[in-house]
Amino acid sequence: MIKNTFWKNYWSDKTHGQHRSQTEDFLKNEAKEKLFHLDGGKSILDLGCGSADLLAYYARAYELCIGADWSESMINKAYERLKSFDVQDNVHLLQADDTQIWEHVKQKFGNEFKFDRITAGQVIQYLSEEQIDHFIHEAKSHLAPEGKICLFDVVDSRTYELWRAGLFNHERIHISTINGLLIGRLRTFKNKLTGKPLYDLGYIYSPAQFKGFAEKYDLIVSFVHSMYYEYRYHVTFQKKSK
Ligand SMILES: C[S@@+](CC[C@H](N)C(=O)[O-])C[C@H]1O[C@@H](n2cnc3c(N)ncnc32)[C@H](O)[C@@H]1O
Repeated sequence: MIKNTFWKNYWSDKTHGQHRSQTEDFLKNEAKEKLFHLDGGKSILDLGCGSADLLAYYARAYELCIGADWSESMINKAYERLKSFDVQDNVHLLQADDTQIWEHVKQKFGNEFKFDRITAGQVIQYLSEEQIDHFIHEAKSHLAPEGKICLFDVVDSRTYELWRAGLFNHERIHISTINGLLIGRLRTFKNKLTGKPLYDLGYIYSPAQFKGFAEKYDLIVSFVHSMYYEYRYHVTFQKKSK
């Protein structure tokens, strides 16, 4: 599988998750929103856990947590934060990417271990369609029968460009939004010509693409808007009952 190293390099020296706000109040509210959608279970795997901005809260709600991130600087911060929350004992941190993670899980918990919840928050934007496909395939086979795969904060290809152009800053459509859209399109075109990621935030996806994965892997899929980001939505997959 060919991987773009751009985002791995980008995250290699970062030390927080770049949420809209990094105040503890904001992170707590984001975690509350996600815990509502995760809706229970005892074990959770969090791909791209970063500096544990949210995982620290998940760790208070789950008996067993695995956080995986490919960035050493983020994992180091995660250790510090989990310790400050006094939840380090029920979290296993792994430095691994979206494909390596499964081998780590196998080595730590054996072949048969299944998670109640598998999640990734603000991470899907760094995965190509091929990587997402592979991740969902593996996640399904590591999921308990009543389990859920929650992919949080996918950047919405239907609204991201409008948000970036400033649509949400005005009462109604404003001329500057139209200018912003044109400038944004030109920037995307330039990025394409120069081989850079098309969008500053990474890949953008529509719900239709996740419906396609649900059909391919015989899963039930549902969607809900993010409470805190106008241009993001959450995707949940569940297994069909037999
Ligand atoms: C925007 S941060 C979000 C961190 C965390 N999920 C949160 O909500 O606070 C994205 C994180 O995903 C990690 N990441 C991105 N792509 C990844 C991949 N393919 N495998 C593992 N980690 C990845 C980055 O290193 C970064 O720590």
